[in-house]
Amino acid sequence: MSTRGFPEGFLWGAATASYQVEGAVREDGRGESIWDRFCATPGAIHGGDTGEVACDHYHRWKDDVENMRDLGLTSYRFSIAWPRLFPNGHGKLNRRGLDFYETLVDALLEARIQPAPTLYHWDLPQALQDIGGWTNKDTASWFADYAECVFTHLGDRVKTWITLNEPQVAAFVGHADGRHAPGLKDLGAAVQASHVLMRAHALAVSEFRDLCHGSRIGISLDLHTMYPWTDGMSDVEAAHRADGKLNRWFLDPVLKGTYPSDIMEIYRRLGVAPRIEADDLATLSSNPVDFVGVNYYFPQRAYADDRGVLGFEFAQLKDSPKTDMGWEVYPAGLCDLLIRLKNDYADPALMITENGAAYPDGTMEKGQVQDHDRIEYLASHLRECRRAIEHGVKLQGYFLWTLMDNFEWGFGYSKRFGITHVDYRTQARTWKKSASWYQSVIASNGGVL
Ligand code: FCB
Repeated sequence: MSTRGFPEGFLWGAATASYQVEGAVREDGRGESIWDRFCATPGAIHGGDTGEVACDHYHRWKDDVENMRDLGLTSYRFSIAWPRLFPNGHGKLNRRGLDFYETLVDALLEARIQPAPTLYHWDLPQALQDIGGWTNKDTASWFADYAECVFTHLGDRVKTWITLNEPQVAAFVGHADGRHAPGLKDLGAAVQASHVLMRAHALAVSEFRDLCHGSRIGISLDLHTMYPWTDGMSDVEAAHRADGKLNRWFLDPVLKGTYPSDIMEIYRRLGVAPRIEADDLATLSSNPVDFVGVNYYFPQRAYADDRGVLGFEFAQLKDSPKTDMGWEVYPAGLCDLLIRLKNDYADPALMITENGAAYPDGTMEKGQVQDHDRIEYLASHLRECRRAIEHGVKLQGYFLWTLMDNFEWGFGYSKRFGITHVDYRTQARTWKKSASWYQSVIASNGGVL
């Protein structure tokens, strides 16, 4: 079999997240999450959609694992819903919640698919939100307790772990832009939440080191390759600030145990710097990750603009191709990003933990969505992964987003990212053309790319 650049043992995966696929929000003792509450807020979600049923994966997981086996996935990234295990965020374990994930993990292993769970993909127990959520430092400790419980029960079988998904989005889209749960519009709360999230991550890694041996742990960050709109000095500086806010503010604490001083200085000036206590930075720097999970969808192009809080705004190239999200398609940005991480952060092990595209269903043939646009998106980004590997980047796996169409947060069910089509009326799953294509990519270890 040709390896064409992809190393032995490279993980070929797909990703989902609990609130986006599971449904069954009131079953088996699950507590309310901030997304249940947010979806109930009039006007918050496109079409008034909610994750109440979603893909009904909580009941259809067997079919879904079968689907993954047919695809030939070697790994599956899913997330564990904290409120299923601890309906109030902490206290007594709800055994039935844990049972669901134990059964799922066993079924995956049986199908020779390595489970790669994420501990937090945005569904915070509402009970914790009621006492400050991620702005409350105690939430980090409760997260560590929850992580300890999961490691204790699943650590013998799971070899790849992810602490948090996209803390940047959880903190800023949830607390400053108000477009995600908990729906706040308070920059200070967002910055504070980002710090508590970083602390939660580090404490979970520390629990992991005590309990799990011979396995690896990382964090998934949404990273944007940052380009200045023009070569002018002010745009170059604006792009550096934008990179600081979106990327370095999370990469630096994870990989260097510090916050970038330029951004900290701006937050101090604005009166929104996080409350950092004595041992916080030591906790961050003494808990390095085994890999960084990269979620890459599109690049950003920044220009100087005083109307932006940090003195920048983003613009889009007029003629560039876009997905149904309006996101620019720029595969070379992925290779640029991976090489940048290698150069600036001492050559860390990396994993693409999300990459993919929403497109409307478009052409159908014999009941199958002919999603050539999605195939082209995925293929071109995978070729950039290969190029990065050829440049010496330590890339260990690729998880496409997403296994099947699902609840796309504020966009509800209006955006379809799946390689499997879901008919939400019947819950029928049907492969799109991209699913057969991905099957052949995996079978050839990327040789067909
Ligand atoms: C990422 C999220 C994921 C999905 C994709 C499209 O930001 O982590 O859950 O919604 O975007």
